[in-house]
Amino acid sequence: MTDHILNIENLSIAFPSDAGSVQVVKSVSLTVGREIVALVGESGSGKSMTGRAIMGLLPRRAEIAAERLAFDGQDLRTLNASGWNRLRGSGMSLILQDPKYSLNPAHRVGRQVEEALLLHTRLSASERRERALDMLDKVGLTDPKRVYASHPAALSGGMGQRVMIAAMLINRPKLIIADEPTSALDRGLQDQILTLLRTLTEEFGMSLLLISHDLQQVSRYADRVLVMRRGEIVERLPAAELSNAQSPYTRGLWAARPSAETYGTRLPVLDEREDAV
Ligand SMILES: Nc1ncnc2c1ncn2[C@@H]1O[C@H](COP(=O)(O)OP(=O)(O)OP(=O)(O)O)[C@@H](O)[C@H]1O
Ligand SMILES: [Mg+2]
Repeated sequence: MTDHILNIENLSIAFPSDAGSVQVVKSVSLTVGREIVALVGESGSGKSMTGRAIMGLLPRRAEIAAERLAFDGQDLRTLNASGWNRLRGSGMSLILQDPKYSLNPAHRVGRQVEEALLLHTRLSASERRERALDMLDKVGLTDPKRVYASHPAALSGGMGQRVMIAAMLINRPKLIIADEPTSALDRGLQDQILTLLRTLTEEFGMSLLLISHDLQQVSRYADRVLVMRRGEIVERLPAAELSNAQSPYTRGLWAARPSAETYGTRLPVLDEREDAV
């Protein structure tokens, strides 16, 4: 794949601490083209920090360095706050775990789904509404008009996540970063939402960076997999080969499938971290 929308070389992220700075992401290099790339790894391995760096959403204290941090031909290292605001919600979007925290309970769904259009386009109110209804339909909501007029509290978890996806995709971003987009949902819904994400990724010609704990699930939805441990990418392989991964670490992650019992708890870290913060 030569046509990479995202190109990262030697990304490092550190946090200052009393004992000196703690590196949480170390020389990570990756590219994403028109495909689904999964970023997997044990808890604390640096997946979310990597995703947040790409979106310009690192905590203020974080120190970031990269030899290259390029999105769609733009050097992200040079963006100022307004540049990031222009990019987020138009060029790239972030889908998070739980719609409860991402949707504003005070506003109707329609307004939230349209928000990116309001910020980033000159469409009229009726054009925005039309696009929002169309998008609500595309994400598989059966009564778009009713959902459009509802408040988030009226939605089930699965519907909420579909609304989130509609809001994130409405302006046709080129890159989606989905950080554990389904771990708040039950298993059946997880598959529905991931199938939806994959279908829309293909239909819109988007790129998807899928951050996940669940390797078995990832093997069914991603094209390529990057395995992180202690801030580093330690293995790269096609998703279809995950079940035959050779390294003990990746095999351990494959076997440690999140289950109903571990849901909502942190997954075991497979090895002791000497640099825990
Ligand atoms: N604000 C912060 N200050 C200092 N360290 C932080 C901060 N936020 C995260 N970290 C540390 O950075 C490391 C990487 O965190 P990150 O959230 O990227 O892990 P993760 O791979 O997404 O884990 P999980 O699977 O649990 O979501 C962790 O060791 C975490 O403790
Ligand atoms: Mg995370």
